[in-house]
Amino acid sequence: MTELKPVKEGKVREIYDNGDSLIMVATDRISCFDVILDNEVTKKGTVLTQMSKFWFDMTEDILPNHMISVDVNDMPEFFRQPKFTGNSMMCKKLEMLPIECIVRGYITGSGWESYKKNGTVCGIKLPEGLLESDKLPEPIYTPSTKAEIGDHDENISYEQSVAHLEKHFPGKGEEYAAKLRDYTIALYKKCADYALTRGIIIADTKFEFGLNENGDIVLGDEMLTPDSSRFWPADGYEPGHAQPSFDKQFARDWLKSNEGHNWKLPQDVVDKTIAIYLEGYEKLTGNKLA
Ligand SMILES: Nc1ncnc2c1ncn2[C@@H]1O[C@H](COP(=O)(O)OP(=O)(O)O)[C@@H](O)[C@H]1O
Ligand SMILES: [Mg+2]
Repeated sequence: MTELKPVKEGKVREIYDNGDSLIMVATDRISCFDVILDNEVTKKGTVLTQMSKFWFDMTEDILPNHMISVDVNDMPEFFRQPKFTGNSMMCKKLEMLPIECIVRGYITGSGWESYKKNGTVCGIKLPEGLLESDKLPEPIYTPSTKAEIGDHDENISYEQSVAHLEKHFPGKGEEYAAKLRDYTIALYKKCADYALTRGIIIADTKFEFGLNENGDIVLGDEMLTPDSSRFWPADGYEPGHAQPSFDKQFARDWLKSNEGHNWKLPQDVVDKTIAIYLEGYEKLTGNKLA
């Protein structure tokens, strides 16, 4: 068996090159406040990968996605070992479009900070009198450009997204920008409506798209996981303040109230965090994790 090395190792995900496909592995690492903790959250990687799979399956009617398989038997022999089972996704390699497609259905985080100052989010004027965490009258598309490593992503207007794409793909800026916006809103609406029926609010999320060998736009990356989205429990949702983060609240709260933690959680906090990931998955999909 040939030992493979990831071509890219992120805080949480590892990416392997497999010729004309990629294998994306979600590990059990957890990061809080941008630091990788000294704990493994058992099954977290599987929950994230299976959640992406669930959403990719649900949205195939909107546009094609890059998923080929989550079955390690379809992958090179190296992946047929327990640490890759369930948490690995083989994907079509795409030429990624250099825009992070963010959609917000509720006002929170940096959007709320901006609105308090000047009534806008990423240059979009919003109605007066919104409270923190309020639902927006319509979801808004707020693209950003992917920053170089270590930098923060930069929010851009829709017009700037046209120019940015035009620079990389001459003659295609208008077309790609409009398609990214329309796909992003359509995906969000379908999935957020569904999630609400399962008791989960998707406050906002980010999609990434790429081009396949025919030049068609395909949905890539991860989809609607707690790492790319804000999920809130619908039960107890109340505008006027920040909502509890569905996935990392226990870990964050514990870190904040325990100085000198050295980025290591006690086992009971890890166990609660695992339970929350599993519960989120089961709530959303209606299935137990295999
Ligand atoms: N199908 C795909 N083909 C090629 N690259 C992809 C595909 N899907 C996602 N990517 C890219 O793979 C990378 C995943 O890395 P990730 O661990 O999320 O780190 P980061 O988002 O910080 O770059 C991103 O650069 C993403 O744009
Ligand atoms: Mg990423």
